[in-house]
Parts: sequence; structure tokens; C-alpha cells
Amino acid sequence: MTIQLISAVELTAETGGLAALLRDAVEHGASIGFTLPLTEVELADYWRKVGAEMAAGHKILLVARDPEGCVVGSAQLALEPRSNGRHRAEVQKVIVLAAHRAKGVGAALMVRLEAEARQRNRRLLFLDTSTGVGGAVKFYERLGYRFAGGIPNYAADPDGRLVANAIFYKELS
Ligand SMILES: CC(C)(COP(=O)(O)OP(=O)(O)OC[C@H]1O[C@@H](n2cnc3c(N)ncnc32)[C@H](O)[C@@H]1OP(=O)(O)O)[C@@H](O)C(=O)NCCC(=O)NCCS
Repeated sequence: MTIQLISAVELTAETGGLAALLRDAVEHGASIGFTLPLTEVELADYWRKVGAEMAAGHKILLVARDPEGCVVGSAQLALEPRSNGRHRAEVQKVIVLAAHRAKGVGAALMVRLEAEARQRNRRLLFLDTSTGVGGAVKFYERLGYRFAGGIPNYAADPDGRLVANAIFYKELS
């Protein structure tokens, strides 16, 4: 497995694999900002928006590939552009293909994302995830993220139930 930092230009050649990855996660019940049914137009629009944020220098994207070069995971870091927040970044859309989970791909993406954050002097990372079945609370706890609180009924899990989110942060040394 390899992890690659993708540029905004390279993203255009990757949108097929990334759209399939996002669809796989939502269809397997992940609560990552989408509900079913998910159209190809929604997926294409989403990755176009990510590309625009990357081109503006506000986001970085990592892609994990299997030995054949197929996309098996991805993770994003949104770099706060405002002058009072340039020390922080938000971890977004950490996703691993359902068939490739529990093999360390997610943890490897997070280790690299933290290294990329350090390089850019982003020492405070934060994120939110669902506390329901579609979330990844245990995953972030295992990686040393600290629970800061949550908001009841924050978003609907793919099963339709409104559940609280859990906000996590990590201060990088
Ligand atoms: C969360 C996710 C990225 C984890 O990826 P993964 O490749 O399976 O994770 P890893 O194999 O690297 O696991 C790292 C650690 O977290 C734990 N972990 C991962 N997912 C877990 C889960 N759902 N429940 C409990 N523990 C979990 C693993 O057991 C492992 O701990 P260990 O080191 O003690 O064995 C993956 O399950 C996923 O894509 N989920 C759907 C999308 C999502 O919810 N993303 C997060 C919100 S943005």
C-alpha cells in the first residue's frame, strides 16, 4: 500500500476512483455528509468542489493505493485560511474501501496527514464524527484524539436516525 499527496491537477484523473470510494463508504453506512440514494452528479460536484479548495491552497488530499495502483482510501486536511487560525486544520473524509478495512490503511492515512500538517505548521487538528453506527469514534480515540464534546441530534446517520456528533482534537507536538 502506498500513500500519495495529490495535486489539484492530478485530482481530475482520480475522480472515478474517488467517487467509487465515497459511494462505497456511504452504501456501507458511513455518516460522511451524504445520504442515499447518491447520484453520480452529486459525487462529481463534490470532488469538483474539493479540487477548487485544493487549487486555492485551502485543502490537501491523500490517496492510498493497493499494489495494483487502485484507490483504496483517502483523507483530507482543510487548512484554515483566516489569519487567526493558520495554526489549525480540520481532518475530513477519512475513508477506506469496506473490503480493505481493519488492515491499517486508515491509521496510515492519519499518520501521513499529521506529518503533512506538521510540515505546514498546523499544530492543532480537529474533526467531528457521528456517535452512531455511521461514525468512527473508536478509530480516532485509538489514534490519540481527545473528545471535546458533541451536539445532540446533529446529523442523520444513513439509517435515518438523528444522532449526536463527537468533536475530537489533537495538539501535535
Ligand atoms: C474509520 C475508517 C477510516 C477506519 O479505517 P481502517 O483502515 O479500517 O482503520 P485501521 O485498520 O487503520 O484501524 C486503526 C485502529 O482503529 C480501530 N478501528 C478502526 N475502525 C474501527 C471501528 N469502526 N470500530 C472500532 N475500532 C475501529 C482499529 O481496530 C485499529 O485499532 P488497533 O490499532 O488497536 O487495531 C474506516 O472504517 C472507514 O472508512 N469508515 C467509513 C468512513 C468514516 O466513518 N470515516 C470517518 C469519519 S470522517
